[in-house]
Amino acid sequence: MKILLFGKNGQVGWELNRSLQPLGEVVALNREDADFSSPESLRQIISDVKPDVIVNAVAYTAVDKAEAEEELAATINSVAPGILAEEALKTKALLVHYSTDYVFDGTKKSPYSESDEPNPINVYGQTKLAGEQLIQASGCDYLILRTSWVFSSRGSNFLLSILRLASERKQLTVIDDQIGVPTWAVNVADITKNIILLSEKQRLTGKFISGIYNVVSSGATTWFDFSNKIISIASEFGLDSGFVVDQINPISSSEYQMPAKRPFYSVLSTEKIEKVCRISTIAWEHALECCMNVMKKTG
Ligand SMILES: NC(=O)c1ccc[n+]([C@@H]2O[C@H](COP(=O)([O-])OP(=O)(O)OC[C@H]3O[C@@H](n4cnc5c(N)ncnc54)[C@H](OP(=O)(O)O)[C@@H]3O)[C@@H](O)[C@H]2O)c1
Repeated sequence: MKILLFGKNGQVGWELNRSLQPLGEVVALNREDADFSSPESLRQIISDVKPDVIVNAVAYTAVDKAEAEEELAATINSVAPGILAEEALKTKALLVHYSTDYVFDGTKKSPYSESDEPNPINVYGQTKLAGEQLIQASGCDYLILRTSWVFSSRGSNFLLSILRLASERKQLTVIDDQIGVPTWAVNVADITKNIILLSEKQRLTGKFISGIYNVVSSGATTWFDFSNKIISIASEFGLDSGFVVDQINPISSSEYQMPAKRPFYSVLSTEKIEKVCRISTIAWEHALECCMNVMKKTG
């Protein structure tokens, strides 16, 4: 199997470049090799590589900045995935693409399933939803994997921000009225490998059905509780040597103004992936421990 991976240096892309290796040949590209702000250029890359599977881990992920850079966010999150889908259709490749819990408005009180109606409340979510829709309309074989609150031992994420701030400030203030599911990039990548393996077998026998799948940990939490868990695991694992923090204060979204609105509730249900693909998910707290254990080992 030949896999073309876009975005090899992102949180999820980095882990995919590791997890996909056992499936066959992986051609992994970064921003210099494939610039999503010039989406037409992606066509030539796909026709040169001739992949069986295209995995798109590229995205414009700066949620607040997107409010002021709507055109660029739309090019990367909507137009480019649409072009990948057109090329996937032409070359009969499977397109694996990632999307987000931020396609929802957060007014629901129970986990969102794949068939719930999206209604994004910020530019990032709107551009990600438009990307999903272009892929769905293209007629290619696709898997759209929605994830949420991604953390990893590298890149830019909430876990690393809290660890850094804990070394810089005595008091931290963290939002306590948004509920979601922290998800380890390693788990997203490992589930992607398994679902590609299954899908490529199904495509050979004509049994494949394109669709959206939620790929998140199990459980749910607030940013405030997540930050407390990070600090307590860091202390337990001896990762707290430079900490000066002595208190974390909860704050509401209305008191903590940010350029982009966020959904109050964006928990994604894992029922479909567990039933259809027989893939089990891991509790977010356990995933966080594993991630921080990796950080402890690698220094
Ligand atoms: N992060 C989250 O909390 C979160 C939550 C829900 C869903 N998701 C989705 O999960 C997927 C993976 O996200 P992630 O957390 O791995 O994001 P990330 O760490 O921000 O990585 C994004 C990747 O996109 C690349 N990129 C950005 N602009 C580009 C451009 N113009 N041309 C080529 N490459 C470009 C970046 O390249 P550089 O490395 O060169 O910057 C990076 O490799 C995305 O679809 C995202 O929407 C993420």
